This record gives sequence, structure tokens and C-alpha cells, in this order.
Amino acid sequence: MGLTETQRNAAFARLDALWARGCSFLGTPTAIMCGAMSWVSERHLVSAISNAGGFGVIACGSMTPALLEAEIAATQALTDKPFGVNLITMHPQLDDLIRVCVAAKIGHIVLAGGIPPGSAVRAVKDGGAKLIAFTPALVLAKRLVRSGVDALVIEGSEAGGHIGPVSLGVLAQEILPHIRDVPVFVAGGIGRGEAILGYLEMGAAGAQLGTRFAAASESIAHANFKQAFVRANARDALPSVQLDDRFPVIPVRGLVNAGTKKFLQHQAETLKRFQDGVVTKDAAQLEIEHFWAGALRRAVVDGDVENGSVMAGQSVGLVSAVQPVAEIIAELVQQAVGALQTR
Ligand SMILES: Cc1cc2nc3c(=O)[nH]c(=O)nc-3n(C[C@H](O)[C@H](O)[C@H](O)COP(=O)(O)O)c2cc1C
Repeated sequence: MGLTETQRNAAFARLDALWARGCSFLGTPTAIMCGAMSWVSERHLVSAISNAGGFGVIACGSMTPALLEAEIAATQALTDKPFGVNLITMHPQLDDLIRVCVAAKIGHIVLAGGIPPGSAVRAVKDGGAKLIAFTPALVLAKRLVRSGVDALVIEGSEAGGHIGPVSLGVLAQEILPHIRDVPVFVAGGIGRGEAILGYLEMGAAGAQLGTRFAAASESIAHANFKQAFVRANARDALPSVQLDDRFPVIPVRGLVNAGTKKFLQHQAETLKRFQDGVVTKDAAQLEIEHFWAGALRRAVVDGDVENGSVMAGQSVGLVSAVQPVAEIIAELVQQAVGALQTR
């Protein structure tokens, strides 16, 4: 049975209503954000996302204020649409980075990597930018809202990169029904429009994706990195494994490769050297932490997907081709609208 034009328009109108709060907060026609990804989320991908009606976010990572200033200017040269900047709270020059964003009239600043300090919250708000923060639990979500945060992202353990222990399926149930004061965006494992629609219907304002966009044509990630995404199944994107309770490993989700196997071996050898009294506990911990230094860059920029860190979400199983950003966004919208049309 063919669907009429009226049914199609009604489905589009329903989607527009469902994510209206997210769109108005971001200043975009779709409430689809591309989460900041170190080495990936730079001028080309960020401007492509924003030009296609989504919301791009620059990953500042360990950039200096001068480098960030240049990246923002270069992005503004490629788009006149809104985009944000993701800053890591433990960056030693956080205050200067916020000043750079404010001076460049960045409308949205994302503070990641921990609870944002009060001084940073004030600096962002006094500068006139909207503040977005991550929350791993409901109590913290409430505290962040009280402290003046303008929007929250809840990121489930399905996501690529650094992860918490709880899946988005559960976080969404814990948090969405209880946070109404600010828009809440969902992230982690999202690869299709039907999933976005489901979370919008649960009360989310929009969705943040990383993995699908990392493999987009406009992403500067190495061709090997994108092809690894195209080939991988959801079950290939696993969290880093910790061998011993005494030596914590930061949980990071990425594709299993020679590097992840060597990491286990490296932990075992380091553990043995500690047990034999060859290295102190602190030195052993540092050696374990050092293993992945520069590894994301090696995979993304150099294309060494065997030894580098190929951070990817479980959504990698839903990447079937390298596609332009506009096509990915149109597909996500079409899937959400299609699901609404069949009701
Ligand atoms: C390669 C890669 C690098 C990432 N780097 C960062 C980062 O530097 N800062 C951050 O806040 N999130 C980072 N993320 C998480 C994304 O912003 C996003 O929340 C996540 O990818 C969403 O889950 P998905 O990958 O299943 O779509 C990264 C994700 C990937 C795949």
C-alpha cells in the first residue's frame, strides 16, 4: 500500500515536534550532534556536519589555546552554521581555552572528562555560551542542572572511546523521565533513525553519534581506519581489558586488533616485573598507562589499524560504507520518518 503525501508530511511534522527542543537549543534543523572525537573532529568534519543540518563539535583535546583559536577560525571559514567546542576539564589551560571560545563567539561549549569546576561553569555562562556536560548518573545530572548546565549528554557504554559502565538503554530509563529542566541528548551505539526516534519518544531532545560520522567521506581519518569500520561487526568493538585489580585500566571501547592483544601481554609482563620487585607499583601503573600514548593518532592519522587504538562504538556494526555526511543525516531522518509513517 502506497503512503500518501499527507501521511509523509505528518510523519515529518511529528519528528520535527519530537526534536523541536533539541533543534532550538542547538540552532539546527535536525537534533543530531556529532560527538567530539580526538584527531577526527576538526574543521572538515565539523563544518560538513553543521552544513548538512547537524551540529558539529570540535575536539580540542590537548590543543593549545592558539591552536584551538586557529581551528575555530578555519571552521568558521567553512560554515556559517552553529557548531560547538569540546574541552577537557583537566586541560591545564582550561580557562584560556574558554576565553578563546568566548572571544570567537562559540555558542555551545561542551565540558568533558569529569565534573566541570564551578569557575569553568561561570566562565562559560558569563561569556554568553551555552554549557553542555556529560552525566553518568541521575544524582549527578540533578547536581549539574542546579549548577547551571544548559544541556546534558548521557553516553552509554555502547559508545566508542572512553566509556562508563552503564548502557544507554539503562541510562535513558534512569535519567530521561526525571530531567525536564534542560534538554538531554543521548549517545552510544546509535546508528539508525529508528533508535533516535525511540529515545526522542522517551523524552530525549536529540542524539549524539560518533562512530558513523568518523567513517564519513569528509572525515580526515585514514582510509584504513574507515575501512576497518566498514568491515567490523558490533562484537568487534570491545572495552579495554584490565588484567589486575591493583592496576586500573581506563575503559575505552575500540576494535580488537594486534594492539589490544599486545596490551594484555604488556600488562602481564609489567605485573610480573612488579611481583619480582623490579619496578615499583607507581612505575608499573605508569608503564601500563603509557602503552596507549599516541595510539589513537597512530590509527586515525597514520592508518595503523593493527597497532593503533581504533576507538569505535558498537554502532560500528551499522557502518556499511563510507558515505558523505549529508547522506548519513538524510538516511537517519528517513529511517525515523519511515518508522513514524508505518504507525
Ligand atoms: C574515534 C573516537 C574518538 C572519540 N574521542 C572523544 C573525545 O576526544 N572526547 C569525547 O568527549 N568523546 C569522544 N568520543 C565519543 C564520541 O564523542 C561519541 O559520544 C560516541 O562516539 C558516541 O557513540 P557511538 O560511537 O556509538 O556513536 C570518541 C569516539 C570515537 C569513536
